[in-house]
Amino acid sequence: MDVIAITGAGTGLGKELALQYAGQGHTVIALGRRISPLLDVVQEINQLGGKAFAYSLDIRRYEDVVNTVDMIAKHHRVTCLVNNAGIGHFGPLSSLSVQQIDDMIQTNVNGTIYMTKAFLPYFLTMPKAKIINIISTAGLRGKVNESVYAATKFAIRGFSESLTKELEGTNISVTAVYMGGMDTPFWHGSDHIKDRLRLRSPKEIAKQIIALEHGQNEMILS
Ligand SMILES: NC(=O)c1ccc[n+]([C@@H]2O[C@H](COP(=O)([O-])OP(=O)(O)OC[C@H]3O[C@@H](n4cnc5c(N)ncnc54)[C@H](OP(=O)(O)O)[C@@H]3O)[C@@H](O)[C@H]2O)c1
Repeated sequence: MDVIAITGAGTGLGKELALQYAGQGHTVIALGRRISPLLDVVQEINQLGGKAFAYSLDIRRYEDVVNTVDMIAKHHRVTCLVNNAGIGHFGPLSSLSVQQIDDMIQTNVNGTIYMTKAFLPYFLTMPKAKIINIISTAGLRGKVNESVYAATKFAIRGFSESLTKELEGTNISVTAVYMGGMDTPFWHGSDHIKDRLRLRSPKEIAKQIIALEHGQNEMILS
């Protein structure tokens, strides 16, 4: 059984992945900024007889990431990192504030890269390890009113593809996952999606990721 670290595990897709991985007997390390939703997920997993631990961190801050990953590595033999945490601000470029632009880039791009860089030295000492990057179809195609969000997701696509090549022949696999819209708190406070009923459930997407992911470099779920 694996020990799986998941960023953004307190809500949405990350929470579903945490519950389903734990249901299969894996240990979950639930990560995010707010400790309370993470503790709720840990409690739910424990009540179902699974094993999980919560650590609060802000993936935008490199020092926080390194310190937290070092602490986690002292207590757990993590063999899989799911870079799931991400944020989105939508609308014409002229309507986005510099703060919103920076937040998206720092979370989606820097955060994913920092987490991966921090776990990599540990993973290289394991017989086998996995990095799963949750991207979006916005990492495959540009979309109206999604310019900066799509730019961050294209960046992680490039990161994933390059890292796959860099780690070829090692014990570490990299999987980039591209999915369409999901009904999660990601859309709270946004009117970018007109009909949320058309969105897929994060439970269904998590199930697909877990069932179909076998270390391949790319998964397109749309
Ligand atoms: N929903 C969609 O339609 C959709 C479609 C395709 C791809 N995606 C991608 O799927 C991933 C998961 O999104 P979701 O839909 O499940 O949204 P969500 O429910 O809003 O989850 C995002 C999670 O990321 C965490 N997070 C945000 N900033 C963070 C930071 N600086 N440090 C640590 N954790 C942070 C949040 O927790 P805290 O606020 O407590 O930190 C939250 O739990 C994202 O990468 C998103 O881009 C979403």
